Amino acid sequence: MSAPLEDSFGRVHTYLRVSVTDRCNYRCVYCMPEEGLTWMPREDILGFEEIARLVRIMARMGISKVRITGGEPTLRTDIIKLVEALRAIDGIEDIAMTTNGHTLAKLAKPLADAGLNRVNVSIDTLDPAHFGRLTRGGKLDRVLAGIVAARVAGLVPIKLNAVILEGENNDQIFDLVDYCAADAADTELRFIEYMPFEERKFKSVPAEVLRETLRKRYTLEALSPPGRRDGPATHVRLKQNGLKLGFISPLSEHFCASCNRLRLMTDGHLRTCLAHDDTPSLRDLMRAGLTDSQLEEEIRAMVMGKPSGHDCQITGGTLFEGVMTSIGG
Ligand code: 5AD
Ligand code: SF4
Repeated sequence: MSAPLEDSFGRVHTYLRVSVTDRCNYRCVYCMPEEGLTWMPREDILGFEEIARLVRIMARMGISKVRITGGEPTLRTDIIKLVEALRAIDGIEDIAMTTNGHTLAKLAKPLADAGLNRVNVSIDTLDPAHFGRLTRGGKLDRVLAGIVAARVAGLVPIKLNAVILEGENNDQIFDLVDYCAADAADTELRFIEYMPFEERKFKSVPAEVLRETLRKRYTLEALSPPGRRDGPATHVRLKQNGLKLGFISPLSEHFCASCNRLRLMTDGHLRTCLAHDDTPSLRDLMRAGLTDSQLEEEIRAMVMGKPSGHDCQITGGTLFEGVMTSIGG
């Protein structure tokens, strides 16, 4: 083991998100334009051996938890091999994946067999027609079947991510709660605040407004003591049905001060902060022939340069830089 990945503010990093592709088979309105993005050329994208090498180097510096994201990670044909390769790395204790669930009915079992521990599935509405519009072509029945398959394969607790947008799906909050509460023992519903990348297209609903709405029907029991949280979410449990809810509120309730995460982008940039783009590409350094210990030093320097945080608010402040899918959320 080498020294932990500490930044200049004393934050120690144990969690790495890896965006394995910027492509997606859905086009969620808040994430990408209808026609899609200009996809990254294949040679610019990290190969799975390159990803595994970087994760191995970072595991020696204390990264123990990896989340595979995108875009839609299951669009990568070598995704099972990647999970197997990550599973084999000493020090990696937890491997999770964020997916839209479109192919999960088929892939849940092979992913679990390869060593995946858990999945997060994005679901913003339970109305099939609305789901089709919001995701521009997504199929709700496939996603729901995928969630069932994930549960059967033991990829639990399943976390369902809902991005609540003012005037778009804020009427869905109770339906989502009811749906998740039916499997409250192994399901967590997480409300994620919309983050404006480059422009502010939608209005986020602040966590406190969501809680106020929920209080109309439920008693919220706080699970995270004030000022302390495990990761960016604050948690409550609904007294009436036992459902655990998470609130991820990067705008209305900044959690930068306790940020323990790094992001390996599709093109090999290490994003030390979701909101800022400021590091050289590890892909280029790797392909230029740097050794593991040289890469370790580069990574350490990048983490040391991590900014204290962002100042984006529900209204006002600077916007997030770049494209969500290649950063990996
Ligand atoms: N703001 C907040 N969440 C977003 N997601 C995608 N784009 C945004 C955005 N601009 C969500 C997806 C998925 C998770 C990885 O990030 O719905 O659940
Ligand atoms: Fe695809 Fe997820 Fe973006 Fe929707 S939010 S378009 S599912 S990457």
